[in-house]
Amino acid sequence: MSRYRQPDGNEVLPDSRLRILLLGASGFVGGGLWTYLAPRHEVVGTFATRPIPGLVHLDLRDERHLAALAADGFDLIVHAAGLVPLEAAEADPELAHRLNVRPVEVLLQAVRGSAAKLVFLSSDNVFDGTRHQYTEDDPRSPVNVYGRTKTAAEDLLLADGRHLIVRIPLVFGRGPWTNTFLARLAGPTTIARMDLVCAPVYLPSLGPALARLWDRTGVVHYGGSDVLTRFELMSRVQQALDLPTRVVAAQGEQVRSGCRRPPRLVLRSTRHGLLGPGLGSALAHLAGLPSA
Ligand SMILES: NC(=O)c1ccc[n+]([C@@H]2O[C@H](COP(=O)([O-])OP(=O)(O)OC[C@H]3O[C@@H](n4cnc5c(N)ncnc54)[C@H](OP(=O)(O)O)[C@@H]3O)[C@@H](O)[C@H]2O)c1
Repeated sequence: MSRYRQPDGNEVLPDSRLRILLLGASGFVGGGLWTYLAPRHEVVGTFATRPIPGLVHLDLRDERHLAALAADGFDLIVHAAGLVPLEAAEADPELAHRLNVRPVEVLLQAVRGSAAKLVFLSSDNVFDGTRHQYTEDDPRSPVNVYGRTKTAAEDLLLADGRHLIVRIPLVFGRGPWTNTFLARLAGPTTIARMDLVCAPVYLPSLGPALARLWDRTGVVHYGGSDVLTRFELMSRVQQALDLPTRVVAAQGEQVRSGCRRPPRLVLRSTRHGLLGPGLGSALAHLAGLPSA
């Protein structure tokens, strides 16, 4: 990947056109990455259950198909597919392992000996949420099945040494075709927790950040600038978009959930200075307003 370095060793040349496989392009995060990457690079994106024109079908459990696709001469394989809803992973740990861990083994095997580099989207849920903030050097201690599958996938990648893990927090914004974040605000009432603290990132900032980081190996964090409760975040988004929902504050014990959630997840980096945009400018952009 060194041909993509600028003289300072950090930046990716904007005119370097790469051949990229984007696993999970039909998803919320994958859609945001597709929007940024597809006009700039040669991108093959995949879907599983939500057909999108221009994307190719792939079930991660079809290991032969996954391996063949991965071995098709890509520079980068950005892996943003898998079982993401925490409750779904908690309810079916075996499925979570099949979708979040096993495909990474298959991918590593498929690209061994080739120039293809894996860029794996991981999560702040690899941490237990008891610290003020987390950098790449902090020990992981997941408290739910989803976090444990992400940790296991990370271990496989770290053992190989030449790939990249990008840990991201809660992502907010509007995707081109899938909107798991805004779906939380779709009902007449939105229950939002006061006892969960996050530093969320704005979806459109992910692609440019990834492009500045993908030359690296190991683990990098990409967090949002502002630290706030889930209730504050949902209230600010509701206001910015004038959504017809009432955001109601709740504590953990009032919310029925089959899954433990880390109480405070703030990702920070010791490896680079990138942070997502401030909430004010992100919400102005989301609402289609000129940012302040
Ligand atoms: N959203 C967040 O706030 C957040 C935070 C931290 C980390 N992440 C990470 O970002 C990545 C994407 O998350 P997301 O929020 O975009 O999730 P998402 O909207 O649920 O998208 C998941 C993607 O995985 C695909 N997928 C699911 N099952 C599959 C299967 N059996 N075979 C092939 N593809 C399959 C989906 O395809 P179909 O939709 O076509 O079925 C979709 O493209 C994940 O690695 C997640 O851990 C997300």
